[in-house]
Amino acid sequence: MSVDHKTTEHGADRRRWLIGIVSALGGTSLLALAAFYLRRPSRSFGKTVRIGTVDDVFRDAIARIVTIGNETIAVVRDPATASISAMRMHCTHAGCPLELHANTFRCHCHGGAFDLHGKVIAGPPKQSLRHVDVVMDGATIYLRLGATS
Ligand code: FES
Repeated sequence: MSVDHKTTEHGADRRRWLIGIVSALGGTSLLALAAFYLRRPSRSFGKTVRIGTVDDVFRDAIARIVTIGNETIAVVRDPATASISAMRMHCTHAGCPLELHANTFRCHCHGGAFDLHGKVIAGPPKQSLRHVDVVMDGATIYLRLGATS
């Protein structure tokens, strides 16, 4: 019985060639997967949205209501410290929407009220408003929507 050395060499070359292609594709896939995970925003930080500059947002008020998607958020600048905070405009009692009236967040469902820091000042709510993380980049205000405290 004779062995066809040419076929065997070609078979070995073909096998090496296939292994090289599969390795390259696997490496490319791993790099693409790694790039995808490195580039996507971290879930713990949620979505970051630019609100505007401090001068634009607080031109004539110490609080501004912004709507982003289905979220209504109050962005507040403390007149004493100039620190900026943000909180969701939903009452912590039963989730009714709040209105800003005379530097107070008021709930018309059951008479709840919160100060500009989000602390309860009247009515049945037991918990302060839920805050949204504020990130400053120079004078520009960003909110991290997925992050609440
Ligand atoms: S839902 Fe706001 S006070 Fe009840």
